[in-house]
Amino acid sequence: MEKLNFTLTDPAKLKDNLIRMIASDWMLVTAGTKEKFNTMTANWGGMGYLWNKNVVFVFLRPERYTYEFMERSEGFTLTFFDVQYRDALNLCGSRSGRECDKVTETGLTPFFTDSGYPAFTEARIVIECNKLYATQLIREAFTDQDPLNTHYRTKGGLHKIYIAEIIKCWTR
Ligand SMILES: Cc1cc2nc3c(=O)[nH]c(=O)nc-3n(C[C@H](O)[C@H](O)[C@H](O)COP(=O)(O)O)c2cc1C
Repeated sequence: MEKLNFTLTDPAKLKDNLIRMIASDWMLVTAGTKEKFNTMTANWGGMGYLWNKNVVFVFLRPERYTYEFMERSEGFTLTFFDVQYRDALNLCGSRSGRECDKVTETGLTPFFTDSGYPAFTEARIVIECNKLYATQLIREAFTDQDPLNTHYRTKGGLHKIYIAEIIKCWTR
């Protein structure tokens, strides 16, 4: 990764505001292998500390194509981009890898981390993660009905939450 001008960084020392980075700037969640992988835009999730590990958590609806890759993979990457890649993130958040090749459509350049996880050279931050825990959200567990009524009233499954350990964080 040094060859790509990424510097190994302690995730606890990231200077960015994490809420803004995830909620407003968005990220790509990418999983799979060299043979086949997929990526999608996400802006629900977070980073924190759990079980004495630095972790991320992301939420994927089971109908996403990326979900199939997340289920099969030991890990995945989160990538964060400068504003000039907003169109690429819009595309990855509105089209499915089932019906288009997002690499061709966006022009993003995939590479594979030491763990073999797919990521993109244009990213300004790459976070490599290994899955620790995954669970499907269930209606009965909501203690406030507002998210249910707002986000799960219409068709579409409840999200699955993936908690994953940050194994490496790279920045430019
Ligand atoms: C800004 C933005 C944020 C999104 N966040 C999420 C998310 O956190 N979880 C999710 O399941 N889908 C999210 N999506 C929707 C997926 O990115 C979208 O359905 C995508 O087309 C799925 O692609 P795939 O079928 O190739 O996996 C988001 C879309 C956008 C535009």
